[in-house]
Amino acid sequence: MALYSLFKTLAFRFDPEKIHDSALNAFERTPAIARIFSCVPFNKKYQISSESLQWNFPIGLAAGLDKNARALPFFENLGFGSVEVGTVTLKPQIGNPKPRVFRLPEAQSLRNSMGFPSAGAEFVKKKLQAYQGKLCIGVNIGKNKETSVADTPQEYATLYELLAPHAHYMIINISSPNTPGLRDFQKIEMLESILSAVTKKQKSCPRPLFIKISPDINETDLDDILSLVQKYSLQGLVATNTTIRTDLGAGGISGQLLKDKAHTIHELILRKTKHLPHFTLIGVGGFSDWSDVVRFWKNGGKYIQIYSSFIYQGPTILKDIQENIEGNLKKYQLNSLEELLKRPEILKQL
Ligand SMILES: Cc1cc2nc3c(=O)[nH]c(=O)nc-3n(C[C@H](O)[C@H](O)[C@H](O)COP(=O)(O)O)c2cc1C
Repeated sequence: MALYSLFKTLAFRFDPEKIHDSALNAFERTPAIARIFSCVPFNKKYQISSESLQWNFPIGLAAGLDKNARALPFFENLGFGSVEVGTVTLKPQIGNPKPRVFRLPEAQSLRNSMGFPSAGAEFVKKKLQAYQGKLCIGVNIGKNKETSVADTPQEYATLYELLAPHAHYMIINISSPNTPGLRDFQKIEMLESILSAVTKKQKSCPRPLFIKISPDINETDLDDILSLVQKYSLQGLVATNTTIRTDLGAGGISGQLLKDKAHTIHELILRKTKHLPHFTLIGVGGFSDWSDVVRFWKNGGKYIQIYSSFIYQGPTILKDIQENIEGNLKKYQLNSLEELLKRPEILKQL
């Protein structure tokens, strides 16, 4: 039995959040544990980049898994190209009552209603200051539960000011289903109030800025958000967060049960933004194998994040994607992944 399967057999006997916390403690104390798994070696040929983002590998870790930036060296050792830290709130908060993370193993999916448990911005800032590694760090920020609608724009601006100096890119999270009223900020007037406050802070600390959106958004709201992306010169979108499925219980669903919905939104966004040369989509939601990755690339996407498939497959998923990249670079006699991504006629054959 492969090492991660063995780990999973044991780990899945425990409450998901408890085992998650214990594992993160171990990864924080001993990042070299990563080496017991088959890791992705660092190699420039796997890098992907644009004018404002450079990842050493095309797969990043999605927000929520290392909320407080505790185990960055461990995830770097595994071979991730990026970690999106957070969601970070300004003040520490404990989030919703437990249990709040549930496995749906037959569907290779998860359901969570965490509600932004966060050690707070000051704690995360110190962790980021201490990290000196090669990961491209995104910091995903969100409002405290108790913050009023009127105070929300300033709170995002303060979070940006505190954390952007320690990040390569910043993400405004307005799409978690677990903070009451948060998704209302996907509406144009409310979102504009946040963007207007945050982008003022970009002058003293310019960082590529993204909005993380829900897969449950309608096309009109998506169009409005894309118009704001242009108006405020944002870098792009992170799509998508978890989806609401009331038939499955409270909270948000991720993994295989999200895949089709996320894919539809990715296609739509990539189609609508083809003419915007600086726009970047970070695709997340249900990616679980090489064919999902290739499908996203064929549509013009580049940067991908995973969460649920990492829980179900462990580091094997990274290794599998790396071996597929390697195999195709050899087969088509290419020097780098960037070269492959520029060859639609080859991508078509994958
Ligand atoms: C337990 C759990 C906690 C999450 N916490 C956050 C979070 O704090 N902020 C956020 O933007 N997304 C959060 N997410 C959403 C993921 O970042 C990602 O968007 C979603 O899981 C879809 O990706 P996947 O299908 O690969 O899991 C969380 C997801 C899970 C499963």
